[in-house]
Amino acid sequence: MDARQLKIQAASVALERVRPGMRLGIGTGSTADEFVRLLAEKVGAGFEVQGVPTSERTAGLCVELGVPLFPIEEVPELDLTVDGTDEVDRDLRLIKGGGGALLREKIVAGASEKMIVIADESKIVDMLGQFPLPIEVNPFGLAATRIAIDKAASVLGLSGSIDLRMNGTMPFETDGGHFILDASFGRIPNAEALSNALNAIPGVVEHGLFLGYASEAIIAGSSGVKTMKNRGNQEI
Ligand code: A5P
Repeated sequence: MDARQLKIQAASVALERVRPGMRLGIGTGSTADEFVRLLAEKVGAGFEVQGVPTSERTAGLCVELGVPLFPIEEVPELDLTVDGTDEVDRDLRLIKGGGGALLREKIVAGASEKMIVIADESKIVDMLGQFPLPIEVNPFGLAATRIAIDKAASVLGLSGSIDLRMNGTMPFETDGGHFILDASFGRIPNAEALSNALNAIPGVVEHGLFLGYASEAIIAGSSGVKTMKNRGNQEI
């Protein structure tokens, strides 16, 4: 089964968790796109939902496919968010932001009672950090912020390149008008400490460590779909 089919499988199980009338955060990325496509089919058949998108990209797809959307200012408390991830460990800690939407994704997930992560099994890791950690920063003081991140990481025994994400010849710009630094630490044994250290740097707007956000992960693999809740897996 190819990667897209796995994403569709995970997305379709997540869709079963969506109840009529729910206030639903809608994630960003190729897996979340599959969720939007399936949700749109259901909406087309009369299912009602209040969608809150986590990016302009997702908003565009929802509008195209007819999923009703509301700005988070109108729907500031959500029942559920369904989103993809770049990495997930056995404690449901995540690295997100590969698509550059981490700030809005974290705001929406944080406003939701529950967050379900959907992914194919390639996203499961024993320890976070192989995927470069996206750190959203204010363009003002970029060099100073990069140095501060490097110093904070080195206090925690972490090192690696910290690269400005580019879009062609220009820095990649997030929906909020910020830049992204991708930090290739390789392994992050102390994710909570790193999260706190990054949050203390003035130029850091947000980072892609989602700790304590996900309540469930729906993972599709060659041997079927599994859910992960805290430690351990459970066949469904
Ligand atoms: C978007 O910024 C990200 O957090 C995505 O959720 C993450 O990159 C997963 O994307 P894919 O589903 O495309 O792998």
